[in-house]
Amino acid sequence: MDSYLQNLFADRIGGKSFGKGTEIYKFEKIKRAKRAAMAANPGAELIDLGVGEPDEMAFPDCVQALARAAAKSENRTYADNGGSVFKEAAAHWMQNVCGVRGIDPATQIVHSIGTKAALSILPACLINPGDVALMTTPGYPVFGTHSQYYGGQVHNLALLEKNNFLPDLNSIPPETLRRAKSLVINYPNNPTGASASPEFFASVVEFAKQHNLVVIHDAAYAALVFEGKPLSFLATPGAIDVGIELHSMSKSFNMTGWRLGFVVGNPLLVRAYADVKDNTDSGQFLAIQEACAYALDHPEITRAVAAKYSRRMDGLVAVLNRHSLPAKKPRGSFFLYVKSPRSAIGKDGKRVTFERSENFSQWLITEKLISTVPWDDAGAYARFSVTFSAKDIPDERRVLSEIDRRLAATAFEF
Ligand SMILES: Cc1ncc(COP(=O)(O)O)c(C=O)c1O
Repeated sequence: MDSYLQNLFADRIGGKSFGKGTEIYKFEKIKRAKRAAMAANPGAELIDLGVGEPDEMAFPDCVQALARAAAKSENRTYADNGGSVFKEAAAHWMQNVCGVRGIDPATQIVHSIGTKAALSILPACLINPGDVALMTTPGYPVFGTHSQYYGGQVHNLALLEKNNFLPDLNSIPPETLRRAKSLVINYPNNPTGASASPEFFASVVEFAKQHNLVVIHDAAYAALVFEGKPLSFLATPGAIDVGIELHSMSKSFNMTGWRLGFVVGNPLLVRAYADVKDNTDSGQFLAIQEACAYALDHPEITRAVAAKYSRRMDGLVAVLNRHSLPAKKPRGSFFLYVKSPRSAIGKDGKRVTFERSENFSQWLITEKLISTVPWDDAGAYARFSVTFSAKDIPDERRVLSEIDRRLAATAFEF
């Protein structure tokens, strides 16, 4: 018999049925397939191209800065929304790295305990029951999930290759647009790897003004670019009137576990975020903030990280192209988003067909011990991350030639 607890769960997480679903989610399916493949091939190397975070730890000087900052008594207290050292470094970084001038660290920047935390807090600032949250798909769903917790509805805009993986804002039905309050975009994008253009951002600002929308630009990968300067949404004329940008230390500085980012932009929106944040958490450890301020003052760290991903991208694109998989190097991020084949023909002439990218991904794990993340939300694609484990450049080459070897003698059909 169920405990009375079973009847107490809120509808937003499944109510009385919470925990009883039998559906297996994508990442669990990948995990299970990896476990089964390893059991069937003991001692073999599973090449993991499915990882969504850096393969290396933070740079030694950042770790030392953290150790120094952690030893300071004044850093021991609740940070709340404070931490002027980090705010000032963030404002300087916005100017120095993204070319966005004039950000006031006191009123236009508040830290986050990572972008994920900011995306989970912001719907509380904006979404009433019945409001629409415009999101892009495939994508990082956190803002949409929390919007639905508050009784909002999510309208997904498909990211399609024919539109360079930019959303078609004109596709939103007028009734949906009337109820829409927010638009979340993310460039460089997870999972497509696509970058935005200044023209696209300008059209977003115009659209937001026309339809009274708040724009939230999730810039978690913003600084990881392979050429030129990172493109901030806030560099767009008028962007500060309509939105905010979310930056993260996670990917640009190999600091996923450190949990720090910042919300920057329109002062009224930043203040609303700060209000709800104050009622949600007590801020990130000031020593982490101080060490991250050190990191922001050293953007050459991100340039070195990006150069590594760029080199790995070149290698992986060449390998995949050699086997007729249509990979195209993106301009940033660490994601290579590749159209899934319809079928594979093995050495023995046997054809395996893939109904969805999920089937292709499972086949890659089972048959080739190569793990990727499938996306079937807007076309069938597999996401290959260049954050695979390799201890140095020769090892990186070894991994790439191992992928090459494993894909040999298989022909893919589209
Ligand atoms: C698009 C996107 N946004 C946000 C995040 C979360 O980043 P953070 O570590 O800053 O919470 C991720 C992490 O994978 C992401 O891919």
